[in-house]
Amino acid sequence: MFNNQLRWGLGLIGAIALTFTAAGCAGTPAGTGAPAESPAQTQPAGDLTTIGFVAVGPEGAWRKANEQNVQDTFTKEAGFDLKYAPAANLDQKSQIDAFTAFVDEGVDLILLSATEATGWEDSLQRAQEAEIPVILVDRGISPDDTSLYATRLAPNNVTVAKSIAEWLVANYPDGGEYITLEGPAGVGVVDERNQGFDEVISGAPQWKKVGAQTANWKVDEGKSVTETFLKSNPNIKFVFAQNDEMGLGASEAVTEAGKVVGADGVLIATIDGTKNAIQALADGKLSFVAEYNPLFGDQLLDAVKKALAGEKQEPYIEVISTTFDSPEAAKAALPDRKF
Ligand code: AHR
Repeated sequence: MFNNQLRWGLGLIGAIALTFTAAGCAGTPAGTGAPAESPAQTQPAGDLTTIGFVAVGPEGAWRKANEQNVQDTFTKEAGFDLKYAPAANLDQKSQIDAFTAFVDEGVDLILLSATEATGWEDSLQRAQEAEIPVILVDRGISPDDTSLYATRLAPNNVTVAKSIAEWLVANYPDGGEYITLEGPAGVGVVDERNQGFDEVISGAPQWKKVGAQTANWKVDEGKSVTETFLKSNPNIKFVFAQNDEMGLGASEAVTEAGKVVGADGVLIATIDGTKNAIQALADGKLSFVAEYNPLFGDQLLDAVKKALAGEKQEPYIEVISTTFDSPEAAKAALPDRKF
């Protein structure tokens, strides 16, 4: 315990000293997630703050942008030794093993993007006993025992999904049949997105859900699942795709079924706001895109410093996101998109 506190103290003094140095040169440009400029002198390797990043790994464009942003933020120049541990094939056991190894190694802090919402109690309790703070990145846990982690940073899945339902009901009041393409079962954000969408659509009975199925965040599965639903429900008017890749697959299925994407055919809304989706919206291949901003490295850096300093934080820190509701909005946004 004492060793941990002493280690923390030395690492913390080093990190704070470096931060002030970096801030003196050029702080982290707000909202970009870009790392602070290299300080005049970097910290000796031995004094770097070690962070274990229990990550999801290859999953799609959103994940690639988010995990790269984290790695671009916690650099050695910024005073950190970030140990990146992506899951093996999205397998939770590989994440728990990496988490355990980081606790045993005595890292200063753990970042966790959970492939599954459940099954984290023992790991989080072990980290707490070792006095290693844990910050949840993007993905939540269930049950959500906020005493087991310092804070969670993510865009608000409930709000993001509500924005889609509010757009649909406000612009297409006549309603019709719809389907939902969900992320993988057991992933926390899937339930949060269903909750947000259902909170609004339940007040619009003219929109009738005729099906929901996971398409595992993938383009090909988004296409095949939509094809199947279109065969059994040829009058579908709307697809709620819980991420861009599944929505892009649905768009292919709609077109290949001889229908148009839009009010005269099938409306398609997606979540993430990656470049491919914004381009598809600009091209009329999607109808609405709700951004789920993956670039929050600057907010995460602030939360990490506070956690290392033992400062109490809110259990959830919201990452601000926006929405795109037309080809014109998409075309205007494309030049500045960063992911
Ligand atoms: O947890 C965020 C989700 O995970 C994104 O919406 C999806 O694209 C990613 O795979």
